[in-house]
Amino acid sequence: MPVSALVGLQWGDEGKGKIADLLAEKADVVVRCQGGSNAGHTVVTDNGAFSLRLVPSGIFRENAVCVIGNGVVADPIHLAGELKSLEGAIPDPSGRLFISDRAHMVMPWHKALDILAEEHLGQKPIGTTRQGIAPAYMDKAKRSGFRWHHARNAGEFRKRVLIILAEMNIVINALGGTALPEKETVDALCGAVDSLRPYIADTVSLLHGHHRAGKRILLEGAQGTMLDIDFGTYPFVTSSNTTSGGCVTGSGLPPASIAEVHGILKSFTTRVGAGPFPTEAPDAAAALLRGAGTNRWDEFAAATGRPHRCGWLDLVAARHSARVNGVTRLHITKLDILSQFDELRIAVAYRMRGGETSDLPSDIRDLDRCEPVYETLPGWKKQLPACKSVAELPEAARNYVERIGEFLEADIATVSYGPGRGQTAFTA
Ligand code: IMP
Repeated sequence: MPVSALVGLQWGDEGKGKIADLLAEKADVVVRCQGGSNAGHTVVTDNGAFSLRLVPSGIFRENAVCVIGNGVVADPIHLAGELKSLEGAIPDPSGRLFISDRAHMVMPWHKALDILAEEHLGQKPIGTTRQGIAPAYMDKAKRSGFRWHHARNAGEFRKRVLIILAEMNIVINALGGTALPEKETVDALCGAVDSLRPYIADTVSLLHGHHRAGKRILLEGAQGTMLDIDFGTYPFVTSSNTTSGGCVTGSGLPPASIAEVHGILKSFTTRVGAGPFPTEAPDAAAALLRGAGTNRWDEFAAATGRPHRCGWLDLVAARHSARVNGVTRLHITKLDILSQFDELRIAVAYRMRGGETSDLPSDIRDLDRCEPVYETLPGWKKQLPACKSVAELPEAARNYVERIGEFLEADIATVSYGPGRGQTAFTA
């Protein structure tokens, strides 16, 4: 049975949690492949809304096996807390949640260094989630990180943590930060690791076993393609490959095993943190996109609570994303938010350097200076009906989503018009 990957096509917060939950219904195994607790996947279940940061979205489905893959950087203290907060809301995770023994750990000093690095950037920070993501991936690339297999032996792990913490405190002090208190830091970290040790596993072997057995596997990407370290708006990106390629290297499943790439695209554009945003809307329109005037006010980052910057749909960026991911199935989300507008704008090219291009420039200085070329489409100006099929959407809404599919050369699978599991229209 084939493997599916799910990726975000914008700057994250596309509504991946809802679609992952939907696809997880049909998946036997759900795998997080990259990123860490910088992610925030909101899943609305019958028991309420939950923001998952490290735990795969399949956790709500009783029979789903959930894997935190080797490409993830997982903060043990955060993960232990996240599991605790889910107690009672999810079926028992033991025996079906696994942490790759090859995944790296985000350590308390990584968080401290992330914050210090941002402070050192003064007026021009990246706007990270302060979850220690870049320092953890730096240690991975430097070949000096802690992998989860290091935690198998509690005594050795504690000993090495004490040594590295002492070294890191020298660095933290030198950067003007406050050294982490030894006992509290080590106790909290080792306590969390103790509670998570039963979940550590060789997930490469586990996943290949499930694949051979014909199980349906969903690779759940985090963040979005515009935050990919290679293909995004560098340096205003995260520190991992957020694309379908990252799903491969972050899980250990072979590229040819992926039969479907589900691309998630919000029907407008948002981003958190700093960096270029060609289609950022003026304040009044941005407020409407953020949910003003509706009972939805959810354009705030699940991981940090920061308000999203909002703007019109940028199809130049989206097509770049669809291409590098090889999207085969498109999921368009949050269409209901656009119901308030008389007309809608979508960017189909950028005017820059005296010409026009519909390819995404690599240099953010071009993105900062370019002027989007917009197409204007009529709005539908009414609440979207509770429908199961895209064909039942008002004509203007259908035209809007069909124009997206045509521009991206991708088949639309679903259109989502609300956070609930039922608020989803399908094409077939
Ligand atoms: P980091 O991943 O915390 O290092 O942050 C780097 C950039 O990626 C910042 O602009 C963050 O706001 C952004 N970012 C990281 N994770 C997410 C996410 O899950 N959704 C949206 N933005 C994110």
